[in-house]
Formats: sequence, structure tokens, C-alpha cells
Amino acid sequence: MIIMESWFFVFGVSLILTLSVQGTHAADQPNIVFIIADDLGWNDVGFHGSNQIPTPNIDALAYNGIILNSHYVQSYSTPTRAALLSGIYPMKLGMQGPSFLAAEKKAMPPHKLLPEYFKEMGYETHLVGKWHLGYSRWNETPTFRGFDHHFGFYNSFCSYYDYLSTWRYNDHDYTGFELRKDGQPVFEETGKYATDLFTDHTVNVITEHDTTKSLFLMLSHLGVHAANKGKPLEAPQETINNFKHVVDANRRTYAAMVAKLDESLGSIVEALDQKSMLSNSIIVFISDNGAPTIGSFKNWGSNFPLRGLKDTLFEGGVRSVAFIWSPLLVQTSRVSTDLMHITDWFPTLYTAAGGDIDALDPELDGIDVWSSLVYDLPSPRNDILINIDEKTRNAGLRFYNWKLIVGTSQNGTYNDYYGHIVMENIEDVPYNTSAIYDSIAGRVIRKTNYSPLTEVEYQSLRYQATVKCTAVKKNECDPATGAVCLYDIPSDPCEENDLAKFFPSVVRRMKRALVDYRKGLIPQIEGEIDIESDDPKLFKYTWSPWLECADSSCQIA
Ligand SMILES: *[C@@H]1O[C@H](CO)[C@@H](O)[C@H](O)[C@H]1NC(C)=O
Ligand SMILES: *[C@@H]1O[C@H](CO)[C@@H](O)[C@H](O)[C@H]1NC(C)=O
Repeated sequence: MIIMESWFFVFGVSLILTLSVQGTHAADQPNIVFIIADDLGWNDVGFHGSNQIPTPNIDALAYNGIILNSHYVQSYSTPTRAALLSGIYPMKLGMQGPSFLAAEKKAMPPHKLLPEYFKEMGYETHLVGKWHLGYSRWNETPTFRGFDHHFGFYNSFCSYYDYLSTWRYNDHDYTGFELRKDGQPVFEETGKYATDLFTDHTVNVITEHDTTKSLFLMLSHLGVHAANKGKPLEAPQETINNFKHVVDANRRTYAAMVAKLDESLGSIVEALDQKSMLSNSIIVFISDNGAPTIGSFKNWGSNFPLRGLKDTLFEGGVRSVAFIWSPLLVQTSRVSTDLMHITDWFPTLYTAAGGDIDALDPELDGIDVWSSLVYDLPSPRNDILINIDEKTRNAGLRFYNWKLIVGTSQNGTYNDYYGHIVMENIEDVPYNTSAIYDSIAGRVIRKTNYSPLTEVEYQSLRYQATVKCTAVKKNECDPATGAVCLYDIPSDPCEENDLAKFFPSVVRRMKRALVDYRKGLIPQIEGEIDIESDDPKLFKYTWSPWLECADSSCQIA
């Protein structure tokens, strides 16, 4: 009986999907605008309960879409982007290690990436902003990996006005220019604030888009990653001046950087609306990992009250800010705690675009959750391999409500709580729901009448989306000591109460699952830092591909 019912259920769902996909042609396929913030903290958006940095556009979209509150990413940039574009767990690609460095001879393995699938479906594909998946040869760069166009940078960061990135190797600083358009350096754009520049470019792509084709656009912001040492945080002074209530000068600049990200979303929604593309668009917003409140590339972001930072497998490192907004979603204005992993976007967006997931690599780790998102159906995702790093021996796994952490990154330096540090001595401003209602995104959504919410309803969603630490017993576990830590995340989202000794059979089962996953691990790809050959001064002071391609067709003209 149960079996019959579930067959009926599956048949019913696939019937709905088949009907909705039938008869689609290029122009009916949804436009996809996927926006990635860099190193944005869990607690740095209004919809997660913070009163410090108003994010009215982000909040308007989140409340009118679906807040994805159990959305897991990798703990730093390169692996997250590898997982997103391949749909595969990074440890199966040799990409589970640290992010790529400038002049490092490493690249994303030659898997067919998400934008290549979208091109095959007739989409125009754009990447604006950060790549961070290798550039030693031209054929490793975005326009050779499925993007028709790229406007942005190849390494992990640069400065926000002059687009220079400085790396210290062998006691020497190497500085190179980073901004490129389809491979060519674009010096003439220098001086414009990066978040505005990438937003304006995105708005132009939308405004000039040939709407007989659908658009697949990834906007991978530099904001709010730290820039060069000496001047890690940068924002326009007039924006910084809006945050006089933030006493700490660094946190104040950070707040302005987040406000610029928020404006970006407003401008993009407005451009999609003016081009009459919005009613057939899907907008996703995520952070690539948690904020590094302290440590290298610290940006004064906050993952409060979550534990850990970027570079850890605690929730503060891997549970990211995320929402999806689209008029194509039927059940919206809700907080989803269904597990979702960064790899899931691959089959999910492919399905949303009318692609046949049977055509995808069966080795894909991503799970198609499109119908769960659209109709609020039970999610097919029950577990997530957070990572296995065979060098640090740090691994993490989610299994239903459970989370197991083995070993540690960074010798355990970042396993504590940091989010509150940057929140001290700061006057909170009251949460202003009218500002959300009146934001550009709020107005556009309202005007186009996608059953928008009232201000009162915002508050209840916000309450649901705010993490509350409810662990009664504190039972600390520091994996740096060699302990294995087990947490019940729904009741203990702040990872304060280790349950390993109370649930030994769960620990055994999850360790066994990790051992099984370990069999599919590919050792981390190796590649030295080849600064002799990639010294920016050899390339007109730019960070440039420096190795010959095996195939001459991959040279940029
Ligand atoms: C961790 O500790 C070892 C041994 O003390 C040291 O060699 C290594 O550099 C440390 N790593 C980090 C990331 O601190
Ligand atoms: C809230 O935002 C609105 C703009 O929508 C503004 O007019 C109002 O002054 C703000 N209220 C407070 C208390 O800041």
C-alpha cells in the first residue's frame, strides 16, 4: 500500500513536471540570475535577525521567495565554486583543499560545467566577477569553460577601486591588475567601485539582452571579501557615512560594503522588470562560505550565533546565507529547513530550464530539488557530505538532523564563536519593515503583483529565519583534540552540545558513511606556485595565464 502510494506520488509529480515542460521553446525557458556574495556572514543580512546592517532589497526578495536556511556550501571559495559548476562533491574532483592562489598551477578538472549545459539548451551565458577556478592556461578561463562572456577577475580578490591584487611570495610583493573583459584587460574601468561596476555591467547585459534567447547569468561579486593588506575594506565614503551608529571603523566600512551588495540586487531586479524578463526569471542569492571575522582576509563579518568561521566545517563556515526568488515558485514566503547542498543547483536549475536530468552525468552528487522548491514537497535530500580533506583529516557529514565533525582545519584555531566580537558596542537601529516595502526590489515585486507580503508578515518570517541557540546542556567538543563531535542541528544549531557519547550507534553509522565516501576521494590536485613565470611584470603588470595550451585553438587573440 505504501509502495503504491509513493508510486502514485512520483507519477503525479512527474506528470505535473512533464506538462509544465511540454511545449517550451527557447524564449519560454526561465532566465537565471545566480548571485554569489563572497565571505558574507550568516548574521549580516536583515532577514536572519540582525539589526545592524539594513538589507531591504535582499530581505524583500527573501521574504517573497523561499529562505533556504539549511543551505550548505564548502568552507572556502574555490571548492564551493567547483561544486556549484560541476554538481560534484569537491573531494571527487581533487578540489577539496584550500582555495587557489595567484600563479598557482592548478585548475578545475575538465568536467562539463553547468554553463556548457545551458549553452546547449540555447541560453546566452555570462559570468560577471570572480572566477577562482584556475587560469594558468587560457583554456582554464571562463570563456573556455562554458561562458559566452566574462567580465571580472581570475583570482580570489582584488582592490575595490583599482583592481590590483598583491600576493607575497619569497618575501617579495607581486602586484598585478585583475579586471578583464573576455580575457582582455580593461584599464579604462578603473576608479569605479567594484560592486557598482559589476552591478552596472550586469544591468547592461540584461538591458541589451536579445530576449529571443534565455539568459544564464552568474554574478559573482567581489563584495564582501577583504582586499589587499593595508586597505582590506573599501566602500564609497557616502555609503560609510550612513553607518555612523556602527562604532568600530572596520565594521562600519564592512556595513557599507554589504549595503552596496544590497543595492546591487535592487538594480538587477529593476533591470529585469524594465526588460519584461522578471516574470520568467529565477533569482538565487548565496554566500560562497561563512565570514572570516578574524584571521587572514578577515572582513569583520559576523556568523553570530553560529560557531566557527570560513575555513571550518562548523555551521559558521558552511551554512550559508541563501534564498531563491521567482514568480515560477508556487509555494513561497516560507523558511525552508530542508537540507540543500551547493551541488544541488546544478540539476535543480537544469530541470527548471526544462532540461532532462537523465542526460546528466549519473555520477552527479547534486540532487534535483526543483519540485520541492516550487510546490513545497518533501525534499529528496537527506544527507550531505560536507567535506573530506585527506591532508588535514578534517571531515564533516550531515545525516538527517545529525552532523558529525571529525578532525579540524587550521589546527583548531577557528573552532570558537566570533560573530559577537564585531557586534559589541553598537547601537542597533530598529528593524525598518517600511524600508523593505519601499526598497527598489520591494516596489518592483509589489508593482508586478506577485502576491507580495505585508510588512507585518515580514516580521513573522524573520522570526522563523533567525537562529536561536537553545542547547540547554553545554557539552563542549573540540575536534582539535582528536574528538569526534556529534550535533543535533535542529535543536542545537550553534553546535554547543556534543552528543557523541549518547548516540554511539549514530556516530558509528556516520563514520562508516564517511569511510564509504572516502573510497571515491581523488587526492588534492597538486601544482606549485609558479611566480617566476607568472610574475605580473612579464604581462604588463596583470595576473595573466602563462602556460602554453596543448591545443592552439585555446589562445586568446
Ligand atoms: C598546525 O600545527 C603544526 C604543528 O605545530 C604546524 O606545523 C602548522 O603550521 C600548523 N598549521 C596551521 C594552519 O596553523
Ligand atoms: C523607515 O524607512 C522609511 C523608508 O521606507 C523611512 O521613510 C523612515 O524614516 C524609516 N524609519 C526609521 C525609523 O528609520
